[in-house]
Amino acid sequence: MEGVTEPCFRDLVLARNGPESLGGAFTEFVRVVRHALPARILLEHLGPRRFGAPVGIQLMGSDVAAVAETARRAVEVGAPLVDLNFGCPAKGAIAGCAGSALLKDPPALEKIVAACRTAVDRAGGVPVTAKIRAGYDDDRLLEDLARAVEAGGAAMLTVHCRTRLEAYQDEVDWSRIARAVRAVTIPVCGNGGILGRADFARMRDETGCAFAMVGRGALADPWIFSGELATASDAARFLLDYRDELLLGSPASHKGQASPRGAAGRIKQLLRHWSAGALVDLDRESWMREGDPARLFDRLASVAGAERQPRLNPVLARKKRVRLEPAGGSAS
Ligand SMILES: Cc1cc2nc3c(=O)[nH]c(=O)nc-3n(C[C@H](O)[C@H](O)[C@H](O)COP(=O)(O)O)c2cc1C
Repeated sequence: MEGVTEPCFRDLVLARNGPESLGGAFTEFVRVVRHALPARILLEHLGPRRFGAPVGIQLMGSDVAAVAETARRAVEVGAPLVDLNFGCPAKGAIAGCAGSALLKDPPALEKIVAACRTAVDRAGGVPVTAKIRAGYDDDRLLEDLARAVEAGGAAMLTVHCRTRLEAYQDEVDWSRIARAVRAVTIPVCGNGGILGRADFARMRDETGCAFAMVGRGALADPWIFSGELATASDAARFLLDYRDELLLGSPASHKGQASPRGAAGRIKQLLRHWSAGALVDLDRESWMREGDPARLFDRLASVAGAERQPRLNPVLARKKRVRLEPAGGSAS
């Protein structure tokens, strides 16, 4: 998710949920405007660490040649999957005719998928997937959009069941995911409104989707995939590990080194959604009001337990022991 799930957050989640429960992830969208992006940018988004589950790169743009060439370069630098974003509702994306703007034009969307498929095949081939919303203002074109993604050669279709107009409203209509499942033969990944582990099975039962994608549920509970019940201490440790990554500006934080205030702001961004370990359930507002970064960190440390070694989080410990290998596997 743009602005939240950069590599340092994503890696902390991947380190806590094995590939048997978290089948794959995507980068936040990488905007392609007019020119193909250089390998350096793509590598920053992919991050330096590899896990059992593949992390695909997600591209968003409307310039067919530039997006296709970026997709080809992404494969060259080791992306195991290329996903195309046709769901972003942001004004900037729509003004550039990208993201959900393409939901008005199934043939244009198909053209981008097909061009990327061809370009990626030229680079050796990895699955190209696409993510749509149920529609722009309404869901009337849903089946046409799903079929356009399939006709373009995508290996999987993710359907965020809200329309662009519905933005991130609480209500979800999973019957739209079922409609997409019936419209295509490729696997469909359902998305929208998964708040707890039980929702995975419920979404599959109700819609027939092959996979389910979690958005904000992972910001509330990074253990949502494994179903492990984190304690308040686990939850506080996660947030302190996140702080360490942000402050130290590890290579997994492509935005570089954050200030303590910046790191505290990012933690509070998560606390707005947070449910893991019931850490903030009773006094979310007092956590959110904590203006002094040092006090916020102290408060987390007192819940996490005093004897904590700041650099020994699962990701960093793993980094010391394991040589990095190229990512493998397939999305699930
Ligand atoms: C802050 C924020 C950033 C997002 N960035 C992306 C993104 O970069 N790419 C993407 O495909 N979806 C993005 N999304 C959408 C989510 O992936 C997901 O489709 C949406 O939140 C619905 O799922 P949920 O109800 O489980 O949250 C973003 C959502 C939010 C709230």
